[in-house]
Amino acid sequence: MVSLTDKINALKKEKDAVILAHYYVNDEVQEIADFVGDSYALAKIATTVPQKTILFCGVYFMGESAKILSPEKMVLMPDVYADCPMAHMADMEKIQEVRKVYDDLAVVCYVNSTAETKAYSDVCVTSSNALKIVRNLPQKNIYFIPDENLGRYVASQLPEKNFIFNDGFCHVHTSITRENVEKAKEIFQQAKVLVHPECKMDVLELADYIGSTAGIIEYATASDAREFIICTEMGILYELRKRNPDKKFYSVGHRQFCPNMKKITLEKMADALENCSGQVEVVESIREKANVALARMLELAE
Ligand code: 13P
Ligand code: SF4
Repeated sequence: MVSLTDKINALKKEKDAVILAHYYVNDEVQEIADFVGDSYALAKIATTVPQKTILFCGVYFMGESAKILSPEKMVLMPDVYADCPMAHMADMEKIQEVRKVYDDLAVVCYVNSTAETKAYSDVCVTSSNALKIVRNLPQKNIYFIPDENLGRYVASQLPEKNFIFNDGFCHVHTSITRENVEKAKEIFQQAKVLVHPECKMDVLELADYIGSTAGIIEYATASDAREFIICTEMGILYELRKRNPDKKFYSVGHRQFCPNMKKITLEKMADALENCSGQVEVVESIREKANVALARMLELAE
């Protein structure tokens, strides 16, 4: 009997497809992917791969960003219901209201957002480039959407800017509490604390390192420390352990689990490739505007 892995690899060739996966998806999906990365790396890779089809193993906004940037490609999602709730936590009317209040305003949109939200924004950012991009924007006033926590972290590093916040959040990262991290620190006293900036500020205060998923992996891999407390989604443990078999990684609770990322399975991947199902489409008028904000991110992040 043909294994699912063999089936996916055969379909990949037949359909001229490449598999991109985020660090939070199931281990076996990361294992079979051609590229695994953080949101920024995946958005960038999607624009350079030669294949005409991209099978995007992540949440919907990731596949949607790939389609916005490369409309000529067919972008398939193994599960179109794998959606990031935070992507929907921005309000277009509020954006227009804030624009009326400030002449000198940049609407900065975390890539965890819908195409429509991006279309209303000036520039997109991810957790790995937000600081650099916002620092270099000419505008003083920054309306940061949808994530309040990443916005507050960036603001804490850039006192020269005036931030207006939105109340979006990630339920996975905000479930990581300061109390739980303190308990973990008491148990694993030698461990470094590595935190994703979607966590709340009182957790960020305990961090030895704050960064994107790729940043956390790079930091742990380069570090002389042997033990790490990981404050982000648990899927990242697969790559951390693969690259660092001699180091120890601890989570802080049982809720560091993104149910949407875990919807991606090998069965659904094979099905999407076989039937070209789960095709991402973006209305052209929205795509064009969203593309301006995303392309600007790629340019300013360099
Ligand atoms: P990264 O860009 O750090 O991979 O984060 C994506 C994400 O969804 C975090 O919850
Ligand atoms: Fe969205 Fe949070 Fe899941 Fe990332 S971990 S995809 S921000 S719900």
